Amino acid sequence: MSDYSHRFHAANHGDVFKHAVLVAALAEATQGDRPPLTFVETHSGEGQYRLANTGEWTEGIARLDAVASERISAGLAEFRAALARAGAATRVPNRGGDYPGSPRLALGALRPQDTAALFEKDAQAAAALTRALGHDKRARITHGDGWVGLAALAETTQEPSRRLFAHIDPPYTDKDEWTQAATALQTLRARRPDARAILWYPIKSLTRPNALMADLRRLGVPGVAVELHVTPQEIKRNALHGSGVLLVGASTALVERASALAAALGPLMATHDARWFTRSVGWGVSAASR
Ligand SMILES: C[S@@+](CC[C@H](N)C(=O)[O-])C[C@H]1O[C@@H](n2cnc3c(N)ncnc32)[C@H](O)[C@@H]1O
Repeated sequence: MSDYSHRFHAANHGDVFKHAVLVAALAEATQGDRPPLTFVETHSGEGQYRLANTGEWTEGIARLDAVASERISAGLAEFRAALARAGAATRVPNRGGDYPGSPRLALGALRPQDTAALFEKDAQAAAALTRALGHDKRARITHGDGWVGLAALAETTQEPSRRLFAHIDPPYTDKDEWTQAATALQTLRARRPDARAILWYPIKSLTRPNALMADLRRLGVPGVAVELHVTPQEIKRNALHGSGVLLVGASTALVERASALAAALGPLMATHDARWFTRSVGWGVSAASR
């Protein structure tokens, strides 16, 4: 069993940003009669979380829960609606409540003709995921390595009419995961140049995010990273200073929506003196190539 459990981090500011962007991306990918989609989640987690009375969620989803509907942006309203569809509209302050993981949010967006290939390496998390979502006929849950699963699916999902969308969300408990992420995106795009992907990453300092982007540039994988920083770098804090979503194959509209979500969440999630900022970095993506 691994020493990481997403249970302790569920619904923190990183999850909220990641999930809001995922909901926006899947709304776009499943619009109307677009061809069937295979959604691949390399690191699925438990699919559903029961939040305790305290925890990281109090600086995350609780901050959004506290805002009245008429005061949130259109993007955050769409995310809130997705939470409601997942049966987790709001939580109770000091008591906790339910919060969906990314596989549950994804299944909420997928159509009957779409499928979800969900990988989870930890046995207990995979069992919880099966309990939460195993009843959904569109979900295929695999207790195993998501890096291997994604590479294999990119090779075998060759039906040109079936699109591929990957959500890559490793725990980053091992620094090798940063390079594994770059390699996974390179392999995915080499096998399926039309594939789209979202990679989430934590920000403690800019060193690793910048190195990841440099790796992707070197490997010839174009992308756009959108970051939300909720704690100034000079403040020492044994917790995330922010997080980023790295979009591969994204439309201009999705990049704009991710940036708008970051800007809307900044004032809500800021941890010190209402200070926050966003950063967007693009490489190899021109307006004509989208
Ligand atoms: C950050 S959590 C995933 C959270 C989930 N994506 C969500 O947003 O609700 C990372 C998960 O990856 C799992 N994991 C770690 N290494 C893995 C691997 N190589 N393949 C599949 N799962 C892995 C961990 O057990 C953990 O449950």
